[in-house]
Amino acid sequence: MFKKTAIGAVFAIALAPAAALAAEGEQHIEDFAFSFEGPFGTYDQHQLQRGLQVYTEVCSACHGLQYVPLRSLSEDGGPTMSEDQVRAYAAETFEVFDSELDDYRPAVPTDHFPANTAMGAPDLSMMAKSRAGFHGPYGLGLNQLFKGMGGAEYIASLLVGYTGEEKEEAGTLFYENTAFPGGWISMAPPLFDEQVEFADGHANDMRAMAVDVSAFLMWAAEPKMMARKQAGFIGVLFLTILSVLLYLTNKRLWAPVKGRKTP
Ligand code: HEC
Repeated sequence: MFKKTAIGAVFAIALAPAAALAAEGEQHIEDFAFSFEGPFGTYDQHQLQRGLQVYTEVCSACHGLQYVPLRSLSEDGGPTMSEDQVRAYAAETFEVFDSELDDYRPAVPTDHFPANTAMGAPDLSMMAKSRAGFHGPYGLGLNQLFKGMGGAEYIASLLVGYTGEEKEEAGTLFYENTAFPGGWISMAPPLFDEQVEFADGHANDMRAMAVDVSAFLMWAAEPKMMARKQAGFIGVLFLTILSVLLYLTNKRLWAPVKGRKTP
């Protein structure tokens, strides 16, 4: 009984400052339910394809994805487009500078998505892994243990987190955003309802698109997540079996010694 109250008190003390921060309008990250969460979570191929479309039609105007090879769009576990689709997508969407030709040419699947530095916007290749949506309490990382790092949640929260307030500082417009650390970001709200038309008629309100593009960016940052989880599961299974065998071996080896009765 005493133990339970003590643990409760420790948690209450640890969580109180987090609650206070939230009340002051500090970073608010929503815990979206993504298909790739948990030890058996997988990417949703159709969601990744929709996210790719949102990235292409909206975000790529300012953000590059320079570490992501275009050919990975046809690899298993990702958007899994056919090779012909990827070839057509690359050629129709991007032009890359070829130093051998000394000129621009349409992209091919062996190229990467282009970089884009024109607008001063950060590259999005690793964004979902370089931001954490969940912190604390008190640097303990308990929230990340239970909810995950929350990179995709952070991006989705950022995209839907605009309050509509703007301010100008030193000639730059800043937009109030409840997910951005500090509360003011220089990226104008990029998404609005029905901006992108999905071929499968999927919901295209701002929230749905934000979730889709965040899932896509998670895949871009960690394309082998499913393989990693699978390898991890096999590893744990193997170690469990090994532990049982070692336990039984140990018992057997010591049986003659331990079984001996002292006179
Ligand atoms: C008009 C140009 C523009 C468009 C379009 C745009 N962004 Fe941005 N984005 C920016 C700029 C500029 C920044 C840097 C903002 C800052 O640091 O204040 C930024 C920053 C970001 C960040 C990083 C925030 C951080 O934590 O540092 C993310 C994530 C992001 N954008 C995602 C997106 C996504 C997803 C889309 C497409 C739905 C998109 N952006 C469309 C200009 C743009």
